[in-house]
Amino acid sequence: MQRRAMAAQATEEGSPTTDTTSSYDEAAAISSASQDTAITALVSKLPRREGWSQELVLYKNYWINPLFVQGIMRLQTSFKPRHDDIILTSNPKCGTTWMKALAFTITNRSRYEFGNNHPLLSHHPQELVLSMEIHHDTNDELNYLEALPSPRLLATHMPLSLFPQPSSIAIGGRIVYVCREPKDTVVSWWHFANKFGGGEQSTGNLESAIDTFIQGFSPYGPFWEHCLEYRRQSITSSDKILFLKYEDMMSDPVKHVIKLAMFLRAPFSTKEEEDRVPEEVVRLCSFEKLSGLRANQKGETIRTHDVVLDKSAFFRKGVVGDWVNHMSE
Ligand code: A3P
Repeated sequence: MQRRAMAAQATEEGSPTTDTTSSYDEAAAISSASQDTAITALVSKLPRREGWSQELVLYKNYWINPLFVQGIMRLQTSFKPRHDDIILTSNPKCGTTWMKALAFTITNRSRYEFGNNHPLLSHHPQELVLSMEIHHDTNDELNYLEALPSPRLLATHMPLSLFPQPSSIAIGGRIVYVCREPKDTVVSWWHFANKFGGGEQSTGNLESAIDTFIQGFSPYGPFWEHCLEYRRQSITSSDKILFLKYEDMMSDPVKHVIKLAMFLRAPFSTKEEEDRVPEEVVRLCSFEKLSGLRANQKGETIRTHDVVLDKSAFFRKGVVGDWVNHMSE
């Protein structure tokens, strides 16, 4: 970037117009390509296991889709944390989409009113807050993270122990973690995997999914280790990590939206609370509202590494205790 700026400046000042940027870009491309090759080779050597709708590799004690491990490795070499980053984290199927909608709405409420032009009415929450290790194929695409204006709102399913160093929270960033009852999580995962994995034939039955989940073998699993890493750190660093539970949020969403806004350093003013703005945020981000929007029903999202998902796959029932309804299956 700096060289690009210098080259442009030199041209403006009447210096020779040799394009110094192209050789620089070529060099960058070569080094990023060789890094990609090295990362692919590293991932190919990791222990592998079939069993979910996707093959998973064991990377530093966690079972993760090999393509997302590549994304994590790239982040570890190239991600530059900022002191005001906000990172939304969770095990998959624990309420990530909901948290993305809430955090986006809270932190952008001075920019976007709740009327017809609100971005959530026309964009899937997964498009408004991108997942760091999922939404890119090459190192170059990490540039999109660099291009985002501060404060950045990002998301990841990465375990805390895999965060790029220096860790975001070590330099002032904040993390919000959402945990969910694991029985509901595995049921949600199973339905989700059936949607994009070719149905039950490829994912197996729910019973076998539960068995492997309990053994710690699930995408981004073991489930409890993932939660506990964040939970422990949230106790010692409560100003840096906010640990929330899906069930608590469902039982009193307004209280949690107020708490979330406070943590994100975007507290509601007395006037806003009198005007019931927190209630408005809850309404806009509710399962009923979001799942009913055309933007979330039609089309595909997350187009990365050939993984294409229906937008509607992120909205199923949105209730607490659905596992009970699967007891007899
Ligand atoms: P169910 O499959 O139990 O319905 P994630 O976003 O982490 O992938 O989690 C998906 C789960 O969150 C799904 O659970 C989905 O229905 C639920 N969900 C999506 N949007 C929600 C919202 N606005 N409020 C509550 N739950 C929501």
